[in-house]
Amino acid sequence: MRSALCAILLLTGLLACGGKDDDGDERMSPGQNCQACHNFPMAGTVYATASADSGAGLAGVTVEITDANQTVHTYTTNAVGTFLARTAVPLPLQKAAVIRNGQRVEMGGAPAGDCNRCHTLPAAGGAAGRIHTP
Ligand code: HEC
Ligand code: HEC
Repeated sequence: MRSALCAILLLTGLLACGGKDDDGDERMSPGQNCQACHNFPMAGTVYATASADSGAGLAGVTVEITDANQTVHTYTTNAVGTFLARTAVPLPLQKAAVIRNGQRVEMGGAPAGDCNRCHTLPAAGGAAGRIHTP
């Protein structure tokens, strides 16, 4: 309820949210499945290896998501390695790629935008672990 109100306030340009009782922002809970609690269209955390500690996310990594319409959405990881989209990304995804220093790893046909649902520890859905750079 409060989130919905905040969204409306933000949309109307009244930056009145983020009050004293805030207990989360885009740097919260790196490596966890954000969509267990949020309905962001897309979120995940990128690491150097599939078995990295949750706090070892990499900043400034490029994540390229190709949506159902072949539109490419590009995100950059924040200080804790998390990328986050708030605008809709049409499913099913065609590709999810991680790019660093000109090298690229990708998965075809990523099922959904809740990347850390599978790419976490212990991993789920057949993933080898965390989303990681080449
Ligand atoms: C166990 C539940 C839970 C998980 C998992 C979780 N969050 Fe949160 N998050 C919260 C709660 C509770 C708040 C505070 C909500 C409020 O202030 O209205 C919050 C607030 C936020 C906010 C500020 C409010 C907003 O919607 O902009 C952001 C951004 C955020 N979380 C991002 C993330 C990201 C990114 C992840 C995953 C890496 C994540 N959260 C994982 C529960 C969770
Ligand atoms: C339903 C589970 C699931 C979800 C959700 C998921 N993946 Fe994956 N992902 C896998 C599996 C399985 C593999 C192949 C095994 C591996 O490399 O972990 C994989 C592989 C990858 C790879 C290649 C890793 C490598 O070493 O070559 C990248 C990059 C990747 N996923 C990114 C993402 C991103 C970004 C998202 C969110 C848009 C996402 N994945 C959502 C299951 C998932």
